[in-house]
Amino acid sequence: MKRRNFIKNAALSSAGLVVGGSMVGCVENPSEENKTELVAPTTKASLPMVIATWHVIDATAKAMEVLQAGGNALDAVEQGCRVEEANEKGQSVGKGGLPDRDGNVTLDACIMDKHGNCGSVVYLQNITHAVSVARKVMENTPHVMLAGEGAKQFAISEGFKPEDLLTEASKEAWEKWKVESKYKPIINIENHDTIGMLAIDKNGDISGACTTSGLAYKLGGRVGDSPIIGSGLFVDNEIGACVATGLGEEVVKTVGSFLVVELIRQGKTPQEACEEAISRIVNKPNSNFTDFQVGYIAVNKKGETGSYAIHQWFSMTKFQDGKNEQIQSDFFNKV
Ligand code: GLY
Repeated sequence: MKRRNFIKNAALSSAGLVVGGSMVGCVENPSEENKTELVAPTTKASLPMVIATWHVIDATAKAMEVLQAGGNALDAVEQGCRVEEANEKGQSVGKGGLPDRDGNVTLDACIMDKHGNCGSVVYLQNITHAVSVARKVMENTPHVMLAGEGAKQFAISEGFKPEDLLTEASKEAWEKWKVESKYKPIINIENHDTIGMLAIDKNGDISGACTTSGLAYKLGGRVGDSPIIGSGLFVDNEIGACVATGLGEEVVKTVGSFLVVELIRQGKTPQEACEEAISRIVNKPNSNFTDFQVGYIAVNKKGETGSYAIHQWFSMTKFQDGKNEQIQSDFFNKV
């Protein structure tokens, strides 16, 4: 558990193992689209830099464009996340996100800046750019979190345009699920993940954001880790930052992102900290970790990164030193 298996990852890379560009997590037969060679993790640090969960090179490219133009890390993570929220092919974020079991697309998102300010939205409907609404909550209200209809009305008052987020493709997937799953209101791991992004700008300041449509076919009203500061995301500009993806219930129970940043504070590398946070989940008595995915990505103040997941189907995208690449995460469940 403690040993980083970079050799294995290097072997995966040289064997030409690829994962798809699809935003759908926990999928063992990834799409043929946007395949990219995986590369082994590195810890070389230079600034500015950006990392994100999963294979989202367009999103990290956008964030880096902001950073290279002299923009700050907060603008970078917001703009990067917006790319995936607008991507209807990604069925776990923003427009085109898979709905709850009743067919409602409900979004969760949060954002956190270098001062420790934060904003989040939960159970937001009909607004594509949940991450930007979260930023408005942070900047234009005395609150941290807005939920449901209140969040939607706030977004509209801030100029966001309401729209139908359920695309034909997601509607079809939901209808198929209803038949196959016999409409059971269960927590499951079907087609699920989150886009989280962390950036350090040229001044060395850190910000982070994450956005999701949450667990596909969830019970109406269910909220995961992504809008919960400390669980889905945590930034401490003196130490580092972490963002989570996967089954939010498990992340919330261990306050995962805060834990990772605190472990970095105590001297661990981002990689070691992510591994320890995953170990807190898998080593629980009666943990059923074979049934779900959780992954963390983290960065320290120097721009060194780490990522770790329970299962192999996780990668991060890193834009640093002029390279925008997908990096295979090391993982716990090696069989
Ligand atoms: N990690 C996103 C969620 O569980 O909703």
